Amino acid sequence: MEYEMRSIADAELEEFRRCQGLAFGNEINPEHLEAGRQVFEADRSLAVFDHGQIVGTAGIFSYEMTVPGEVSVPTAGVTMVSVKPTHRRRGILSGLMRRQLSEVRARGEAVAILWASESVIYGRFGYGVAMQQELLRIPHEYRGLRDDSVLAPGRVRLITQDEARVALPQAHGGMRLLTPGAVGRSEKWWEVRIFRDHPDHRGGFGSNNYLVYEEDGLVRGYLVYRRKGDFQDWIPAGTVLVTECFSEHVRAYAGLWRYVLGLDLVKTVEYGNAGMDEPLLWMLEDARRTERKRLDGIWLRIVDIEKALSARHYGGEGRIVFEVRDNFLNGTGGRFELEASPEGGVCRRTDTAPELVLGPEELANLYLGGGSAGGLARAGRIQGDARALALADRIFGWHVLPHCQEHF
Ligand SMILES: CC(C)(COP(=O)(O)OP(=O)(O)OC[C@H]1O[C@@H](n2cnc3c(N)ncnc32)[C@H](O)[C@@H]1OP(=O)(O)O)[C@@H](O)C(=O)NCCC(=O)NCCS
Repeated sequence: MEYEMRSIADAELEEFRRCQGLAFGNEINPEHLEAGRQVFEADRSLAVFDHGQIVGTAGIFSYEMTVPGEVSVPTAGVTMVSVKPTHRRRGILSGLMRRQLSEVRARGEAVAILWASESVIYGRFGYGVAMQQELLRIPHEYRGLRDDSVLAPGRVRLITQDEARVALPQAHGGMRLLTPGAVGRSEKWWEVRIFRDHPDHRGGFGSNNYLVYEEDGLVRGYLVYRRKGDFQDWIPAGTVLVTECFSEHVRAYAGLWRYVLGLDLVKTVEYGNAGMDEPLLWMLEDARRTERKRLDGIWLRIVDIEKALSARHYGGEGRIVFEVRDNFLNGTGGRFELEASPEGGVCRRTDTAPELVLGPEELANLYLGGGSAGGLARAGRIQGDARALALADRIFGWHVLPHCQEHF
């Protein structure tokens, strides 16, 4: 059966969210619905209708994402993907994905990104893991930093939410350009997603604490954390949860973390989404005692290969010809030549025989510098000889691994 598919009007948002609630097992709360409306982009939504009722949903947040070289590119942040339990496994998601990716390309964006609820869903649509994330749990007794760890001569200060409203967006704007995969935030986003800080969204922890590191009177880094106080048999058993940390340099990073790790009455410090090359693990004296769990992070889909690859800078000089076999999105795959250098890159279509053959998933793995062509080849997912694989790893690699601290 053919279902109607279209974007929704503002007035249909409640039904849209209700479909999502049924798929995820969440209740709809009128207060949160209204807050969410402020960042919802109705014109970029897609809903599938059966007999006039919404049975499938997908949305997009329009982001600017950093790619290697401190370059920002327009990026579709895919979100609110759901299919009503009564209608699952009939191809509704596949239809939504095909239409959504075509619309992303038509709008001129070269990439889409998302957080996947399950890792088995999006590969078939050409999304690949662009970065991994790590959950860290640092026990109180092993929170010590190495003797030679960096000194932080600046001032670490807790600021009020009103001060944070001014200081954090300013600092974030520049600092997020240092990390591939980081996305920009609009004023509304800051308000609704960070400062609203509703008790329902605190997971049993207290409200946000905003910590800044200043040198020469300027904010050089900030960290946001929550606390949960507890005692077990009169022994302090509190938890600190770090929700995000951005810094301009290592002194700020060291200063912020030294403060958090030193807090009293704490048993564990948790960092829910550390990066793949997390510096903290190199600062700790006994990093083995930190509990770590590595997961897939952001999934990425390139819908315009020439544009996406011409936007970033590369880890080395080189020219490589590759073929992308894309069975999902017509007109995206083909043969490409990439001229790469640390100053930038040019990617164009070619007829030349490829040195590497891969799918859109694997290209997404490599795109932000967080993948390994050699590793993918050893898993049978990229074809190419040792020279081409080494070259791909040299040029696609970057000295800062991708990290996205935004959940959407
Ligand atoms: C995930 C979800 C959107 C899939 O929707 P759907 O309409 O059932 O998906 P489709 O029918 O288009 O499935 C396409 C293919 O993906 C597979 N697939 C889809 N969801 C899957 C899942 N969760 N696990 C394993 N396979 C899945 C289907 O089996 C099908 O495979 P096939 O082509 O080999 O037959 C839906 O199950 C859902 O709403 N789940 C709960 C909410 C959720 O997880 N949303 C995603 C947020 S990131």
